[in-house]
Amino acid sequence: MCGIVAYVGRKPAQNVLLEGLRRLEYRGYDSSGICTVDQNHFELRKKTGRINDLATLLRTQPARGMIGIGHTRWATHGAPTDANAHPHLDQSGKLVLVHNGVIENYQQLKERLAAKGHKFLSQTDTEVLAHLIGEHYQPGIPLADAVRHALKEVIGTYGIAVMHADQPGIIVGARRGSPLLIGVGRNENFLASDVSAIVAHTRRVVYLNDFEVVTLTADDFQVSTLEAASVSPQVKEVEFSAEDADKGKFPHYMLKEIFEQPHVVQNAFRGRISHEESTAKLGGLNLSPAELRAVDRIVFVSCGTALHAGMVGEYLMEELARIPTEWEYASEFRYRNAPVEKHTLVFAISQSGETIDTLAAIRESRRKGHKTLAIVNVVGSTIAREVDGGTYMHAGPEIGVAATKTFTSQLTIMVLLSVLMGRMRHLASTRGEEILEELEHIPAKMERILTQNDAIAKLAKKYSDASSFLFLARQHNYPVALEGALKLKEISYIHAEGYPAAEMKHGPIALIEPRTPSVFICPKNSVYEKTMANIEEVKARKGPVIAIATEGDTEIAGKADDVIYIPETLEILEPLLTVVPLQVLSYHIALQRGCDVDKPRNLAKSVTVE
Ligand code: G6P
Repeated sequence: MCGIVAYVGRKPAQNVLLEGLRRLEYRGYDSSGICTVDQNHFELRKKTGRINDLATLLRTQPARGMIGIGHTRWATHGAPTDANAHPHLDQSGKLVLVHNGVIENYQQLKERLAAKGHKFLSQTDTEVLAHLIGEHYQPGIPLADAVRHALKEVIGTYGIAVMHADQPGIIVGARRGSPLLIGVGRNENFLASDVSAIVAHTRRVVYLNDFEVVTLTADDFQVSTLEAASVSPQVKEVEFSAEDADKGKFPHYMLKEIFEQPHVVQNAFRGRISHEESTAKLGGLNLSPAELRAVDRIVFVSCGTALHAGMVGEYLMEELARIPTEWEYASEFRYRNAPVEKHTLVFAISQSGETIDTLAAIRESRRKGHKTLAIVNVVGSTIAREVDGGTYMHAGPEIGVAATKTFTSQLTIMVLLSVLMGRMRHLASTRGEEILEELEHIPAKMERILTQNDAIAKLAKKYSDASSFLFLARQHNYPVALEGALKLKEISYIHAEGYPAAEMKHGPIALIEPRTPSVFICPKNSVYEKTMANIEEVKARKGPVIAIATEGDTEIAGKADDVIYIPETLEILEPLLTVVPLQVLSYHIALQRGCDVDKPRNLAKSVTVE
């Protein structure tokens, strides 16, 4: 949510910042801006709209200098306008700031500063922070000191980059609650909210912790705490390259990421299966077998697509390990005083590892003394660093705002986790082995589904005019129905609801008519006949039906208007396959409707505000 990139070195900063902002655009894309310093003079350019609009402005009004800060915005305080776009100046016009996060007490701070004569040009909380730091700035003191003093007065979250015209060659960064990292280069250094902004220049990074401040020059960087105690930074090597964050031969990131899934699933289970013991090995959990055996309840906390992975996790964990399991919206869990007993494991699921509600849910559980674990994609992210242990997804960067490959990666890890917990309890080795062997066949089966891309595109054409869709399924596939509906509404703006197929009768059936398609997930499994009966109910009301069914099912073609076939698999692994055609269908429907698939309106990839 919003992106920051900053550069100090020996190259023209404008190009580095612009390229970094393009890589960050998926995090927020309603306006953007950069500010460079050219001989003690700011070159500030900002623009509503996409990064391309900023690039057009920079063609006619280039920003000179070899140091600068940049930002791409997802509006919180104040509409997306040029004035509200970052960077923001302080009262003197000599201090400039970009900010991710929310300053909760900005109104009080603003009134206090206004009483002292400060004039504000925007409605943002960020401009107030710029003025506040400016108020603490005195000639002769390090810029970092002014930043420290100001931040002590702030309630809220921030990842910031600041420059002062009187201290050229220096950028100060700080974080609390919003990610910020240092990119360590040769004769150049970077700051970014996300490693993808700088990975083309350096793979050596330092992840800042909350309440840390950094002073960056072209040749050096100094990290210290908000209390000015110095910190020895740990430089880490990033595991992905700039090419991993490219679209390659695909027209959109989303399609590329859908097609990466066979590989991503493989990456999620690689090295984590033990056929000798018919179990999974997840070393990163950092819990002894005795501790894992003592777990008597699991709560998955997450948001969005990751929440749906947690829902599938409930089915798997209860079935395979017989551990009572629940999923919770992280945003609800964090404020609800839920009774969490002693041996409960609170498990976060998060692609970004930065979603603020998920992070807060984990922090709340830790405060209460519970072990917390996480399934995370982004290495070094805040959640990954704050939990007791967990499992990395190794899915590579996911740039499409609508999550796809990270969902199937999360499901794969859920399977491993449930087998692991099951094998420590009652799960027979033969059943464990059967599941793990079939999991290894999933990538090839996904490939087979993806060969139907063109056929699904044709289907999408037929249904793209609908203004409402239902997604219906039972058992393990019910969360997939929710995910299918979420994908469709996120990227095509068609109203869509996911429901347990039988529950349809208790309300959504009223929506069924010839222009409302229902997508039924009905592979040949233990609830096949029941789901078929629900299909009949829709057909009886003249609702069109698209079915996701098992190859070789001859009955379904006579019932549904259209069928997408998936290979047969174990019932508990079906979600790994059934979600794929739904992702592809949503993608093509959104394309048909002329939507910006990778950057859907109003959304952001990583939600770091409440
Ligand atoms: C946003 C994204 C979703 C994502 C959700 C949770 O809403 O648009 O795609 O599922 O956040 O994000 P996380 O990074 O915690 O998985």
